[in-house]
Amino acid sequence: AALRMSGPLVATRFPLVGDVWITTTHDATAQVLKDGATFTLRKEDGDVAGLRWWMPRYVRTIANNMLTMDEPGHTRLRSIVDEAFRRRAIVAMEPRIRVIADGLADELFANGSPADLVQRYARILPLAVISELLGLPLADRPKFIAWGNAMSSLTNVVGFFRLLWTFRKMRAYLEQQLQAARTQGGEGLIAELVQVEREGAQITPDEMVSMVLLLLAAGSETTTHLISGSAYELLRRPDDWLEQDWSRIGLAVEEFLRFVSPVQFSKPRHVRRDVEVEGVRLKKGDRVMVMLAAANMDPAMHDHPESLDLERKPNRHISFGTGVHFCLGHQLARIEAACALEALFVRWPKLGLAVDPAEVRWRRRPGIRMIAKLPVSA
Ligand code: HEM
Repeated sequence: AALRMSGPLVATRFPLVGDVWITTTHDATAQVLKDGATFTLRKEDGDVAGLRWWMPRYVRTIANNMLTMDEPGHTRLRSIVDEAFRRRAIVAMEPRIRVIADGLADELFANGSPADLVQRYARILPLAVISELLGLPLADRPKFIAWGNAMSSLTNVVGFFRLLWTFRKMRAYLEQQLQAARTQGGEGLIAELVQVEREGAQITPDEMVSMVLLLLAAGSETTTHLISGSAYELLRRPDDWLEQDWSRIGLAVEEFLRFVSPVQFSKPRHVRRDVEVEGVRLKKGDRVMVMLAAANMDPAMHDHPESLDLERKPNRHISFGTGVHFCLGHQLARIEAACALEALFVRWPKLGLAVDPAEVRWRRRPGIRMIAKLPVSA
């Protein structure tokens, strides 16, 4: 809100990124994201945006995915997995997601009360779902949880190197899984990808690994923080609207998406030509970061944006981005969050925060809004 007073785009210097414009309004954010020809993810030389020359080569390879690509490479890769994330396919998964959520809710206090809702519930559920969808072995789940924790620890230099190391391990593991699917077949999206590869899809072996890594990482991290952030918002306003009517959870999840804004800003975009955005002139060569969180709090788009209104309608949040990179997993994230919250509060109707809401610890990972620990009691 403070930055928005200076305009819809503000020139600033951002840690690790350097000089960038940042958007503060919904319209500026949407304009940048929708115009992928003017605002590109890669520089003119095609290098993966944001990667420094000194980063290990494997980081460059694994970062070579649809989320870092402009057209036509982006559509080439996205079209390979689009079908698997269509609404019909995801809705068909809902009963299974419910079973997973119910099982995890039952186990929440298995090690006693209070329990940390992040580690015992919000972290596990999306990982369980996406790893099952991909066809990864159940026995490897502890590894995924450790990797998820490493992704959340990108809050300082140590966390950064821990993350690089984690990516290296993830890459080796996923290469193995893909190889196993190539020789032995199997169930799940990895096996389907291998089939598509065999049928001549335009995807290199390295791109296969980065695709699966992106799905595993993007499909778990953000949803974890949506679930824990939403649970926190409900727990610190102990009213009873959810107990009465769970059919309204879909609407509430939209508001949680807006209010929590798990992805606060997205990767910087390169400006390819002189252009005007909301009256602000940008020059070829400039860079822009879109602030999804600021757009979600823009009073020109949302009445009383600072208040949580679980009945808000219409809700034009931009938490999943917009344009060609609009989140591939938005249906999945929505259903997971709805199932997770319903399973949790139905199983534990007296669930409460075990600490003062003001003492809940947030983690300062750039770009992602996340609760580090959420102690709850039954
Ligand atoms: C892209 C947010 C869950 C997979 C994006 C983008 C955002 C986003 C903002 C666009 C970034 C940009 O334009 O730079 C979220 C949030 C989620 C969530 C807030 C949960 C609350 C998921 C899930 C998956 C997923 C469950 C599962 C596979 C992807 C992929 C992309 C993407 C593959 C890249 C799409 C492309 O480049 O075409 N997500 N996401 N996300 N998301 Fe999500």
